[in-house]
Amino acid sequence: MINPEGLPQHVTFIMDGNGRWAKQRGLERLQGHLEGVESVRSVMETSVNLGIKYVSFYAFSEENWNRSAAEVEGLMSLMLKAMKNELNTFLDNGVRLRIIGNKQRLSKELQDAIEEIEGLTAAGSGMTMILFISYSGKWDIQQAAKRMAEAGAGDIEPFLATAGVPDPDLMIRTSGEQRISNYMLWQLAYTEFVFTDTLWPDFRKQEYLAALEEYASRDRRFGKVK
Ligand code: IPE
Ligand code: IPE
Ligand code: MG
Repeated sequence: MINPEGLPQHVTFIMDGNGRWAKQRGLERLQGHLEGVESVRSVMETSVNLGIKYVSFYAFSEENWNRSAAEVEGLMSLMLKAMKNELNTFLDNGVRLRIIGNKQRLSKELQDAIEEIEGLTAAGSGMTMILFISYSGKWDIQQAAKRMAEAGAGDIEPFLATAGVPDPDLMIRTSGEQRISNYMLWQLAYTEFVFTDTLWPDFRKQEYLAALEEYASRDRRFGKVK
């Protein structure tokens, strides 16, 4: 059992390896993404049970727009479907859903669905789930710097797309890659990283609990001497 005091307030995931998972089985890449949705469900269920306040997922990066049209369309419709399917589960569990990213690039249908689901779940007080869609860390810093300058302000944080969300305490990346891939460049400044070789569709409760145990054993010093 993990001591509740050792739990992160905000866990974020770079969900990677869906394509390789599918390839290993001779399946289409989209089948890997579909199975990856089950991992999101598993992680969410465990997080709700543990009382973690913020859980976020890198679902689609700005660079992912460069994939084939078929994969991009498949991912977009999968995200739309998954959000709609889970609406009742969100409401039952007091989960507030937020989407962060350059939403202007998304289809009108997806933008409308996002607005609706964000509105319907806004009163959720249990946990905030964040999906980063069409997001990149450089985009976020650029848009924030521009708006900060326009406002003549001196602190960038209130202008970041994540304003109001505490910085991640723990970042977990699956599939063996050890990089940030243009994720929250500013917000990950003091985040603890856990990398695992497990492919995202295979990342379920036991793996998650192991990562949380690892996090609980870390000594976060924030530059100070203890
Ligand atoms: C992660 O899996 C999902 C997205 C980036 C959208 P990948 O699709 O990157 O899977 P691999 O890295 O090709 O195995
Ligand atoms: C990172 O995965 C982006 C998401 C998980 C949404 P990628 O598979 O796109 O990253 P790279 O290309 O391996 O860096
Ligand atoms: Mg990948």
